[in-house]
Formats: sequence, C-alpha cells, structure tokens
Amino acid sequence: MPLTSRPTEMTSPLLWRDLCVFDGHQTLPEPMAVVVADGRIVQLTPMTAFDASDLEHYQDMGSGGVMTPGLVDCHTHLVFGGSRADEYEARLEGVSYEEIARRGGGILSTVNATRSATEDELYATAKPRLEALIADGVTTVEIKSGYGLDVDNELKMLRVARRLGENLPVRVMTTLLGAHALPPEYRDNSDGYIDLVCDEMIPRAASEGLADAVDVFCEKIAFSVAQCERVFRAALAHGLPIKAHAEQLSNLGGTAMAAGLGALSADHIEYLDAHGIDAMRKAGSVAVILPGAFLTLRETQRPPIAGLREAGVPMAVATDANPGSSPMFMPTLMLNLACTLFQLTPREALSGMTANAASALGQPSLGRIQEGAPADLCVWDIHSPAELAYAVQPGRLRQRIFHGGLSA
Ligand code: NIG
Ligand code: FE
Repeated sequence: MPLTSRPTEMTSPLLWRDLCVFDGHQTLPEPMAVVVADGRIVQLTPMTAFDASDLEHYQDMGSGGVMTPGLVDCHTHLVFGGSRADEYEARLEGVSYEEIARRGGGILSTVNATRSATEDELYATAKPRLEALIADGVTTVEIKSGYGLDVDNELKMLRVARRLGENLPVRVMTTLLGAHALPPEYRDNSDGYIDLVCDEMIPRAASEGLADAVDVFCEKIAFSVAQCERVFRAALAHGLPIKAHAEQLSNLGGTAMAAGLGALSADHIEYLDAHGIDAMRKAGSVAVILPGAFLTLRETQRPPIAGLREAGVPMAVATDANPGSSPMFMPTLMLNLACTLFQLTPREALSGMTANAASALGQPSLGRIQEGAPADLCVWDIHSPAELAYAVQPGRLRQRIFHGGLSA
C-alpha cells in the first residue's frame, strides 16, 4: 500500500513495511512491519496485523528487502601501526606464522610500528578500516589493544578505540589485550611481564574507564595457561569480564580454564577438544569462530563445529581484522567463509554476527530485533537472509540504522 508522503519530521516514528526479518536467531515466517522511535524498536508486527489506518503518523522508510540486526563484529584488532604485507609474502614462500613470530617479526613488528605512531596517526589509519566495517553493516565493533605491550602504549591504543566510537556512528567496545605477546624488554622474564599486566595495565585501564573487557593470547608462542589465569583473576578483581584467544595453534587447555572463570568467549579454538567444549557449555561461553585467520594462515585444523553445535554452545563469527593473521575488513565475507570453510549454516553464521556476537561482548540486548531493543538495524537488497552468506557481494546494504537514526 503506498504511503501518503508528508514532510519529514525528526520526531515521527520510522516505519518499514513488508520486510523479511531475521531477528538474530531465525527468519520470521511472515512479512513484517517494523517501527522505530527514540532509538528503540517499538513495534515488530506481521503485516497482516499492522494497523494501517494512520500511516501519515509515520516516516516512510520503504518496503521490501531483508532486515537484520546491525552486524556485530565481536573480535577485531583494527587499531595498529604499519603493515605486514612483507610477512604475508614470506609466509607464501614457506615461512610459518610461528617461525616469523620466533624471529621477532609478526605481532612484534606491528608492536614497533604501533609504539612509534602517535595517537592521531593511529586514529587516522584505523578510521578508514572502521568505515569499511560500517559500510558493510556493522553497528557494534569490539577493538582490542595488544600492539603496545607497555602501559602507555596499551592505554594509547584503547584511547584511540574510544575516540573512534565517539566520532563514528558505531558502538565500540574496547578490550585490553596486554597479554598478546612478550615485548622485547621482557624477553627472559615473561612472568615479570605478566606482573606488569596484572599490577599496572589492568588497574590503569579499569580506573581510566578505557577497557570493557580483558583478553589474553594463550599459546606456546604467547602465554601459558597459568599466566593467562593470573591475568584473568586480576581482570575479574577489577570488575572486567574476560575472553581468550585460545586453542588457535595447539591444544593447551586455555579455553577450559577461561570458561571455568566465566569467560564471555573463547576465540579461534581450532584445536578445542571435548573437555573444552564441555567447559564452554557449562559456563555459557560463546565460541568465536574466526575464518579469516584460518584462511590467511592456510590452517588445516578446523574448529569442532559439530561438537559445539551438539553441545549447544553458541557460536559467533568475527573478522579478527588485524595486520597479520587476518587483514580482512569485510564482515559479510566472514559469513561466507564460516559456511564454506567450516560448514556453519547461513542461519548459524548470521546469528553468529548478530545475537551471539552481542552475547560474546556481554551485551545481550544488542544484535536482536525485538520490541524494546536498541534500534541498530540493517536493511539489505536481497530476498532471503541466506543470500548474505551465499554471495560475496558488496553494495547490497540499502539502509543502516544506528541508534534509531539512518546513517548509511
Ligand atoms: O587473533 N592470535 C593472536 N592474535 C591475533 C593475530 C595478531 C597478529 O598477527 O598481529 C589473532 O589472530
Ligand atoms: Fe585476534
């Protein structure tokens, strides 16, 4: 039914008609009407039940297409200095990611470039990366530190992440990843570096309100399970939720330890075993699947998707956008890769970048289309939600609504 047009009033509720709605968990069976006012979804109604008698009361936002929650990219490292294109070339010539790290390259080469960049320089290089995510439908993004590896530089990275969130139309959640790699100053004293993370970085990040969570890299080339546990206990003592890079390159048991302490998520988890899956199930932790890193590092060990599914562990999908293992800034490509490489269903992948990703950030009101929820939404020029995972095709985002307002 055509709407009578009338001058736009900023205060009129926004109305979409005849939408196919993916609500964060499933595709609703009937064409829907959605009304947004004051930054929230105030009505989600089948078209057959929608009262069309006072259409002039609304601002017409159009009809048809697929509406999803705004995408939630729950794992990125998009603030960093420099580039690692040379390392990419070296890996293609046969040098492994671990070998590059052992030679002082990899994460540490980004640490050098990040330490020598000013806050303004880091902001200027991160902004277009974040804009690329926004243009692909992201309304909430997590950004980790982890390339500073000393107190001042880790806090510098977190300040840049906060500033991005203040200036761009996107919710930014920040994560302190001080325990990402061992900085050269502590080469023979990794426990001493963990002391610094626990005794100075975490308290400073918490007291300055710069971190929403704390992450670790639990791996042979990074930190042991015992060291990561110390970091987590310090984070929890400062009221910060925890999450882990774990079981990416080997099975150390970091996921089970993290889940035992109530971690929001364990991420990567290619080498996760049945014990780890069970620990995640008991804790309600989210399994964050990162197909970009798997692809870029040309890994062969796939995460245990069938086991996670069977156990009912919620799965999220994220870009892991970073200069080394996943220089990828296109969330919808990750939907495709999660399905093609790991056999997630398109529905699971899309839940993984909406409702489950929001849960992985401890924000269960986001990533869902339901009455009362914040109106962070995307309308796509496609016919079914599965098309988002099926085709790798930029340009299908018709509208992006952030905090109840149109911003793309
Ligand atoms: O999530 N696994 C560790 N950390 C990042 C990689 C960061 C980098 O290589 O710069 C990841 O893959
Ligand atoms: Fe990561």
